[in-house]
This record gives sequence, C-alpha cells and structure tokens, in this order.
Amino acid sequence: MEFQERIRRKKSKEKIVVLTAYDYQIAKILDGTGIDLILVGDSLGMVVQGHSNTKSVTLKDMIYHTKNVARGAKETPIIGDMPINSYNTKDDGLRNAEQFLEAGAHGVKIEGNRPEVVRALIDAGIPVMGHVGMLPQMAETYRVKGKKPEEAEEIFRDALNLDRLGVFSIVLECMPESLAKRITENVKAPTIGIGAGKHCDGQVMVINDMLGLDESFKPKYVKRYAHLNEVIKNAVARFVEEVSAGNYPDDEHTYH
Ligand code: KIV
Repeated sequence: MEFQERIRRKKSKEKIVVLTAYDYQIAKILDGTGIDLILVGDSLGMVVQGHSNTKSVTLKDMIYHTKNVARGAKETPIIGDMPINSYNTKDDGLRNAEQFLEAGAHGVKIEGNRPEVVRALIDAGIPVMGHVGMLPQMAETYRVKGKKPEEAEEIFRDALNLDRLGVFSIVLECMPESLAKRITENVKAPTIGIGAGKHCDGQVMVINDMLGLDESFKPKYVKRYAHLNEVIKNAVARFVEEVSAGNYPDDEHTYH
C-alpha cells in the first residue's frame, strides 16, 4: 500500500506521529521508532542554521538535508518541505518537487492555499501535504492564527480547498483547538497539528524542540521529552575536566 493511503486510513482511528529530521544520524534513530513520517522541515533555517525564521532557506539547503535524511531513514516515508520561493509558479513547483523526490523524499509539503501548484503536483503523482494556520514563510511574527472569526473562516476555507484538491494530509499550525477540531471534522485528509490541540488526527513536532536542545525556545505547545542541552553540557564539562586533569585518554582508550 502506498504510504499516503496508510496515512489516510488512520484518520479518526489511529493517531499519526510525525517528527522533523535534518541529518543522517537523527533520521536513522527515528527510522527505528515506527513513527509515521519524517518531515525535513524548513524549520532547519532556525534550528540548524541559526536564523530567526525560515525565509532565507533555499532549495539547495533543503535538497542537501533531504539527501542526508534519506541515507538514514530506510523505512519511514520522508516529506520534503518546499522552501519559500520554490513554488511561485506551478512550473517552479513541479520542477523543484521533482528534485525532492530525486533526493529521496516521498512527498512534499507546501504552505498555504496554492491550488494551481498543488493540483499540478498531484496530477503529476507527487504526494502533497498541505499546511494552514500560522505560515512561517509568510508570517511577519509567529503568533496564534484564527482567533478572529474572519481569520478562522479563511483558514477553514483554505483547508477545505486543499482537501478537495487531494492532499494526503494537512498540517494545522498554531491555532485555537476549536478551529482545528472543526477543520479535522470537515476534511477527508488527516490533520497533523502543531500548536493546534488534541483533536487533530496526528501531531508533528520539531525534533530539537521536543529533545530540549535549545532551552531558551519554549512556545506553549512545546513539551520537552528530554533535556539534551543539559546532557550535552554535562558531558562536555566532564570531558574538559578529564582532559585538563590528564585522565583522558586512559589505558582503555589508547592503542598499544
Ligand atoms: O518546518 C517545519 O518543521 C514545519 C513543521 C513545524 C510543521 O513546517
């Protein structure tokens, strides 16, 4: 069965679990966990490259990271996040989505309601994940979207449009849970929430956020499942101590 059909069949039955990955080693770890999808997100602009948003991420960056992830994930389908300006026209979208597939992705994600691009990709047999709500490629500031009724209606309409076009899932980012519930109940495609509450058909999280790599970044929806920042700092402190004291390398770690 094609992966998008497996994802679709989970709607309202089993929750869908998605995490981001940007490199080989994390992809290899995730591959053994049974999660449903790996997203090579353009969030790498922040967590890998150190920018304050995703607007400077290029197609070349995304293809590079997708190739690295594909070397690590042998079982889990990979979704490549199309970066800003890579789908301004349907021809750009098609050409660039093909590059993701050549790099090892199984589908692509597109932000916002871009019917002509989404239709062209789906017609070409490329699985598309939609994305509505807070759209980092367009947003001036990152804030919850859809609190105002007009904004909520627009997001709702965009989700219905994407669903009609045949996307295999829709990311709902940073919105009140009542809006996410209404969308989830009215679309055939499974919804994957991030900051959109418990009624979505699945959840996606940026791996660096759930692992606690940057303790200073903590939006309300992020739950820490580990504190790797502390783990790394403690390990480095021990290394510094042992090297400084001449205790590393000891006999066990030396060739004779
Ligand atoms: O870039 C990304 O990681 C994303 C997820 C947060 C959905 O778009």
